[in-house]
Amino acid sequence: MNVSLLPPPPPLQAGAFARRRQRLMAGLANNAAVLIPGAQLKVRSADTEYPFRQASDFHYLTGFPEPDALLVLLPGHEGGEAILFCLERDPDMERWTGRRIGAERAMAEYGVDQAFENAARDVELPQLLAGRTNWYLALDDSDAMALAKSLRVKLTSRRETDSPIVLSDMAEILHEQRLIKSDEELSLLRYAAHISARAHCRAMASARPGLMEYQLQAELEHEFRWLGANGGAYDSIVASGNNACVLHYIENDAPLRAGDLVLIDAGAEYQLYAGDITRTFPVNGRFTEPQRALYEVVLGAQQAALDAVRPGTTLPAIHALVQRHLTEGLLALGLLEGELEDCLAHGACRRFYPHATSHWLGLDVHDVGGYTKNGKPRRLEAGMALTIEPGLYIPDLPDIPEEYRGIGIRIEDDVVVTPSGGEVLTSQVPSQVADIEQLMARGRAI
Ligand code: GLY
Ligand code: MN
Ligand code: MN
Repeated sequence: MNVSLLPPPPPLQAGAFARRRQRLMAGLANNAAVLIPGAQLKVRSADTEYPFRQASDFHYLTGFPEPDALLVLLPGHEGGEAILFCLERDPDMERWTGRRIGAERAMAEYGVDQAFENAARDVELPQLLAGRTNWYLALDDSDAMALAKSLRVKLTSRRETDSPIVLSDMAEILHEQRLIKSDEELSLLRYAAHISARAHCRAMASARPGLMEYQLQAELEHEFRWLGANGGAYDSIVASGNNACVLHYIENDAPLRAGDLVLIDAGAEYQLYAGDITRTFPVNGRFTEPQRALYEVVLGAQQAALDAVRPGTTLPAIHALVQRHLTEGLLALGLLEGELEDCLAHGACRRFYPHATSHWLGLDVHDVGGYTKNGKPRRLEAGMALTIEPGLYIPDLPDIPEEYRGIGIRIEDDVVVTPSGGEVLTSQVPSQVADIEQLMARGRAI
């Protein structure tokens, strides 16, 4: 392991969440109400549930970690603008299913102005919303829509409003806000990236022929949890040999074979912020010549893309740069034929590189925020976080030169746009051939 451990960032304070709520409310129409339900527990089988994961929008505005909660924002409301509904304290239930925060502590520790237990929703919610005619919620969230519809029926049947209630999409406004990360968020993203990087180094150093893909997954996920991450930000992909050509391969149940590459795409979720790293390396610690040749093509494209990250550029411009590098490399290796400009015009490299180069990164691994603005590709701004993840996936088909068949390579790093360029958060995991081989040689010596 060549990554020394950094200290974790301080936890976010209640004031950080309050500032986010203020910013959101500042952009709303008059007479607004915002309704944001938190996540609910989901049944896994019989009476077991999936591990609870708070809804990202709700977390962004509250930091409140329990299921079945609801945030209501009422700009200008005299009794307080931020109102939380949460699970009731219940000593019998808490004995079985865990301690609950309750309304009293929610106010004291999470900085909301008012808090009620969920049992009070039927009485309190219609009163709070009376007279508010512009309701903001996520229109694609079935829980939020069901709540809004039932409240609207209640309010109109009681004639507590005579003007129509307008439902507007809260997502667009809130997701614009989430797209630009604050300094506090960047510290959390850096730490998620750091844990992810340590985990990748650990898996790389542990790899050897005869292990199973899931044993490398265990190395990664051990490191995630050991360093305080919730676990993975998504299902870890450990794809050896031809499995790497399946983009979302998650079976991870094949043996690692000498002479194959293994592609690992995995990232930690730390305080709900995601890391997202991919590295591809030889199972036995040494690239073969054809593997190295293809790998250097992807690495060159990735380096060019990382260097291109700066305010003012766009993701399609970076993607075009990657496609140019990959196409040049594929022509040089004989995997494509023809003139460079013709190949680019026809998108010839899509056969080997079918996905995008980047996505936003944050509380969600494929984070929110529009990819276009006013109908045009959005220009990068300082504080945006994104991935750079070119790859080549060469099918095992007769028209492909034999030495390249069934090789899949992706190299993915996490980057924050700074005022003058990009800060790569994940450079602690080697991506140069010599550095990978050196780390693996050290790992095999242990
Ligand atoms: N791990 C999913 C992605 O790279 O987008
Ligand atoms: Mn990614
Ligand atoms: Mn990834």
